[in-house]
Amino acid sequence: MQVIRSTRAIQRLALKWRRAGHKIGFVPTMGYLHGGHMSLIRRARRAVGPRGKVVVSIYVNPTQFGPNEDLSRYPRDLIGDLRCCRAEGVDAVFAPSDADMYPGAREGLFSTYVVEERLSARLEGASRPGHFRGVTTVVAKLFNLVQPDVAVFGAKDFQQAAVVRRMCADLNFPVRVIVAPTVREPDGLAMSSRNKYLSGRLRIQATVLWRAILKARAAVRRGRGALQAARLRAELKRFIESEPAARVDYIEFVDPLTLKRVLRVSRGTQLLLAVFIGRTRLIDNARL
Ligand code: PAJ
Repeated sequence: MQVIRSTRAIQRLALKWRRAGHKIGFVPTMGYLHGGHMSLIRRARRAVGPRGKVVVSIYVNPTQFGPNEDLSRYPRDLIGDLRCCRAEGVDAVFAPSDADMYPGAREGLFSTYVVEERLSARLEGASRPGHFRGVTTVVAKLFNLVQPDVAVFGAKDFQQAAVVRRMCADLNFPVRVIVAPTVREPDGLAMSSRNKYLSGRLRIQATVLWRAILKARAAVRRGRGALQAARLRAELKRFIESEPAARVDYIEFVDPLTLKRVLRVSRGTQLLLAVFIGRTRLIDNARL
């Protein structure tokens, strides 16, 4: 497995692989890898086959964090991450520095960004201004560097996957975007690097997101037909906030393709949740 730190070197390697006829499967991450990331790596391998090359990037991208977010305390463990990647048969890990990814940023020279304007506006975009501008910019840069045929994203970040798909279609990136299912802990909590922030008591309360999803599913199945979104939202908010450390940021029912809000909830509606458990902000989502 190659470990590559420079943008020039990864692009040179990727172009060489492509010229030699290898397919490239790519999994972008911010590291502190867990079972969710591992499932994406396996999905990428399956997509490109044994002769293909699987590249994982590990980069905590500063432009997608807001000024009051957890950039400086975001968990990191490059040694552990490399061990995981090696065990999965990854061909190359790309782990660049900020100076290499955003040249001239300190001097105010870096000035080109990629902005998706419609799907990004609501939900995570409304709660975290500038977040998706950072995501689309870094993903576009990574695609130019890694030259993937296929890129795998997780359904855990449902809106992110939709925004990246849109960006690829709008800007003609020749990349097939695969969205792989959310991997959960045995008690239902979606795996996330940020789960590290949750101590015993908070970790138990964090399962309330999954329990809320199950409750919404049960309501839809029972309801046969359509339920009023406003009523179900109020019920879920009460349920979630019955945990002392939980505070709802948003509960939204949307059409899974357009991400537009629906007024009536039925089978196939996508539920998206953002909930603070103490100081840690967790997101989750599911098809109802
Ligand atoms: P990160 O949070 O590290 O996630 C990397 C990828 O893993 C994303 O596609 C995310 O949706 C997926 N993922 C995370 N938890 C998952 C789970 N429990 N099950 C399945 N997939 C999961 O998302 C980012 O990094 C960044 O925004 C990035 C795309 C790398 C751009 O900086």
